[in-house]
Amino acid sequence: MIPFNKPYKTGKETKYIYDAVNSAKISGNGKYTQKCQKYFEDKYGFKKCLLTSSCTDALEMCALLLEIKPGDEIIMPSYTFVSTANAFVLRGANVIFADSSESNPNIDENKVEGLITSRTKAIVVVHYAGISCNMDKIMRIANKYKLIVVEDAAQAIDSYYKKKPLGSIGHLSTFSFHETKNIISGEGGMLAINDNRFLKRAEIIWEKGTNRVAFWRGEIDKYGWVDIGSSFLPSEIIAAFLYAQIEKLEKIQSKRIQIWNEYYKKLKSLKRNNKVILPYLPPYSGNNGHMFYLVCKNTKERDELIMYLKETGINAVFHYQSLHTSPFYINKYKGKDLSWSIKYSECLLRLPFYFELKMKEIDFICRHINMFYNSQ
Ligand SMILES: Cc1ncc(COP(=O)(O)O)c(C=O)c1O
Repeated sequence: MIPFNKPYKTGKETKYIYDAVNSAKISGNGKYTQKCQKYFEDKYGFKKCLLTSSCTDALEMCALLLEIKPGDEIIMPSYTFVSTANAFVLRGANVIFADSSESNPNIDENKVEGLITSRTKAIVVVHYAGISCNMDKIMRIANKYKLIVVEDAAQAIDSYYKKKPLGSIGHLSTFSFHETKNIISGEGGMLAINDNRFLKRAEIIWEKGTNRVAFWRGEIDKYGWVDIGSSFLPSEIIAAFLYAQIEKLEKIQSKRIQIWNEYYKKLKSLKRNNKVILPYLPPYSGNNGHMFYLVCKNTKERDELIMYLKETGINAVFHYQSLHTSPFYINKYKGKDLSWSIKYSECLLRLPFYFELKMKEIDFICRHINMFYNSQ
């Protein structure tokens, strides 16, 4: 069976974990945490990075930093992972779902302004498959109404909008290092802070509401409880794993982009013949080779293709179920029909994608997808 995902190990993970375990510090914010954070700050120009145990944690930190209160409204796409919304719902926010765009699953930037009210606090954009949202337009709207922009860049490490790294444009941004992502640490994530207003408080929220980070830097002689917070930082064992991955980021990225291009090349005749929709990269977007997907005509066709591929030994999978129709939110949702979001929930199919996927396996997968459509 060709799996959907296979976590890649660069070879140095256990060496660095061994080093971390044998050092005097295994808890968070040690040598490896700081090396990882500095790497991302230097490479992508994020003002400050804090590793977290997951992207979910980083999103929850955003909700705390923005002091979200019951009744506040947060605009985001319905076509996203549950954590994008849940982080804000935990603080009592009302999530205002926007539709995806027709050309790709990202939020339709033209639908955002109409959803803004006096209670709106933030816009959360999700760079689906590492493909950039229209950030100039989003930032223009946010500035006009004095809203905060959070980039949920869970899938978007090392991707760009024009020449700017994703995650460096919004006031805050969040990344995932879950084992399905380009670089991984099992579970893992990161908050990037680009707005000075949040720098000091983010460290405090990260460390259980205490000023322990300032204490470790020698700025104060004892630390204590100064704000709300939680335990968002991962142990050094996780950070050591991530550091081994970071060292091979360029190699990982170049292979993943090669895989993406190979899929595109071998499937583009299906697009030409209007059998499927392939990923659309707007001219302003880079490509970080995170994912390759198809959009089928309807659910029946997608499910038949999934079954056909499974019988051939290929594990292809669908993705998000639109949050406005989820069992938790359906009765709370009062907005319009979000037909593109529903379309992606019902028709999008993700193909196997991982560093060790071989060109001959891509050929095998594409040959079968082509056969499926050509026999119809
Ligand atoms: C858009 C998006 N946001 C947040 C998350 C949550 O990431 P994590 O599993 O690191 O908490 C995911 C998970 O894949 C995601 O796709």
